[in-house]
Amino acid sequence: MLIRNPDSILGSEITPESVYQSRRQFMTAGALGLASLGLPFGASASLQQDDEITPENIVTQYNNFYEFGTGKEDPAAYAHEMTIDPWSVEVSGAANKTGTFAFEDIIKGLDVEERVYRFRCVEAWSMVVPWMGIPLKDILAQFEPMGNAKFVEFKTLYRPDEMRGQKGFFSSIDWPYLEGLRMDEANHPLSLMVTGLYGKDLPNQNGAPWRLMVPWKYGFKSIKSIVSIRFTEREPINTWKQLQASEYGFYANVNPAVSHPRWSQASERRLPSSLFNVNRRPTLPFNGYADEVAHLYAGMDLRKYY
Ligand code: MTE
Repeated sequence: MLIRNPDSILGSEITPESVYQSRRQFMTAGALGLASLGLPFGASASLQQDDEITPENIVTQYNNFYEFGTGKEDPAAYAHEMTIDPWSVEVSGAANKTGTFAFEDIIKGLDVEERVYRFRCVEAWSMVVPWMGIPLKDILAQFEPMGNAKFVEFKTLYRPDEMRGQKGFFSSIDWPYLEGLRMDEANHPLSLMVTGLYGKDLPNQNGAPWRLMVPWKYGFKSIKSIVSIRFTEREPINTWKQLQASEYGFYANVNPAVSHPRWSQASERRLPSSLFNVNRRPTLPFNGYADEVAHLYAGMDLRKYY
């Protein structure tokens, strides 16, 4: 069972009443908002008892989006400089339908769902976020991938005039930001193309107008502000692997048993976290989605394919 009605999310005994109440209000507002748009309201995939939704201001103000700088607060400060309308997407490679498409035309007619997912960064912090989006498989199917499409590669916008981090002389990233998935990962029902959060449009700093969300993988796989989708027979390179292959791999499945060379991945700081309440908890294999996704990696040595 992948999808669960948000009403069945259990509140933690330690949740302050005010936080719990505002969460219920959000849920109600979200349900009303989506219902009035005629959209299905659903989807909290296998949340644990103590998975409280992270406050919205943390999710939208504590970001990684290196195109706008390396500081956690840089994306919220500068991402408004990125123009997201019009937005077009180039589709290429092993598919029957390729070419340049307007973003609106790609998502037209597809249902937007709400999915509350745990989100775990390779830096060992985590959040619980109510994303809104379209199953990635529904997006990709429109382009009719061919049998030899074994992987799909995604690219972020490259526009140094609007993305100040791309201009940086000291930037070690070879822009544009690149990511990829195996086709069976991309077609897994948990993989989501996100277009919103907390019942609203996706803010620029979170990857507007659309970004990937693959909840069993480290956050760097969830590439933002996508302008290119390419179907390919070979495993594509991804930015973090390109930068430091001994530290970041292609698969990047959340795995408490395989440490980053410079820090342990056995536990994580669930935000909000402070000096006095670090809010540390054990990291779960595949970020807690093992029942749904572990079969994708049967027989693979996850120490080698990290
Ligand atoms: N996508 C692009 N284009 N550029 C980035 O720097 N950072 C990644 C990922 N997607 C990144 C990106 C990393 S490391 C993380 S943890 C998540 O985005 C952060 O997403 P958030 O800011 O919405 O929490």
